Amino acid sequence: MGVKFISTGRFLPDKILTNFDLEKMVDTSDEWIRTMTGIRERRIASDEIATSDMVTEAARIALEKGNLKPQDIDCIIVGTITPDNAYPATACWVQKNLGLKGFPAFDVSAACSGFLYGVIIAKSLLESKIATNILVAGAEMLTKVTNWEDRNTCVLFGDGAGVAILTLSDDNSDILSYNWGANGNLGELLIQPAGGSRLPASHETVDKNLHTVTMDGKEVFKHAVRWMAISAEQALKNAGLTKDDVDLYVPHQANIRIIESTIKRVGIPREKTMITIDRIANISAATVPISVDFAIEEGRLQRGDILLLNTFGGGFTWGALLIRW
Ligand code: UT7
Repeated sequence: MGVKFISTGRFLPDKILTNFDLEKMVDTSDEWIRTMTGIRERRIASDEIATSDMVTEAARIALEKGNLKPQDIDCIIVGTITPDNAYPATACWVQKNLGLKGFPAFDVSAACSGFLYGVIIAKSLLESKIATNILVAGAEMLTKVTNWEDRNTCVLFGDGAGVAILTLSDDNSDILSYNWGANGNLGELLIQPAGGSRLPASHETVDKNLHTVTMDGKEVFKHAVRWMAISAEQALKNAGLTKDDVDLYVPHQANIRIIESTIKRVGIPREKTMITIDRIANISAATVPISVDFAIEEGRLQRGDILLLNTFGGGFTWGALLIRW
């Protein structure tokens, strides 16, 4: 039996922050942001909600679309680097919000690759018959860990959640192959320095803005293209397929120029590539599941299609997942 995505759901906060709004906050321009990143606007969560609330909303939609009740879920995995708290896991809060208890619920910390890592873990839990219906989410509130005075980073990120419900398949749907990896030697290039055991929160860490995203953009860019391409090609090879078999490619949305360089390298046409960065910006682990959800809604993904998911993020971590939808 294969592993099937039963349904998906997404939550995007209502509040929109446009590039023109940012022009009033830092020394930037709509033109710079659009040409250098592809972003036009991003969503900003209100102060009343936390990451688990966004996942819960997206989960309710996915449950309804999948014709399932919350009680049908027996494992929750949330990919996030912006959890509600250091602990308990955001997945545990989602379990509570859905009125559930008893089964395992845990977070995966793999930055932008968090959703993909979660799906790969879910696949093996399903195949081992450890769980039957797993809710996997990618969710972030990056605007809460953004330095709003740093134009190098504050224009890049947004908030939101995407979820998928996975089960063992009774039809042709399957996860055909995957590739995943990490390189901890390069962790310093994309990091939230303070707030953990290395540099606990103090007045000094707050004054120095060390609880926000710190990034060497140029280096991250180079590694992102390289490892997304290698990973995608490896996943295709593992399944005995080629780039020409791919019906829809959903890459992580960090920068339109990263996406363009990667598709050029792998040889996937732009018409087969899902691009959402203009409307949602970079939402780290949430980007891929939200983009898949948009693709379904827009009629770009049908049952039987070959779907390639591809990601890269802090750690560094990366991954590619090849699915017969
Ligand atoms: O989710 C995975 C992790 N994130 C990523 O994958 C992001 C990867 N990196 C990137 O997307 C790009 O590196 C950025 C979009 C962040 C930056 O693009 P870049 O081509 O690396 O530009 P840069 O940082 O070298 O900046 C070029 C110029 C600089 O000015 P000077 O030194 O040439 O005068 C920057 O100060 O652009 C300036 N700049 C800006 N100007 C207007 C940087 N940010 C801004 C801004 N508005 N917001």
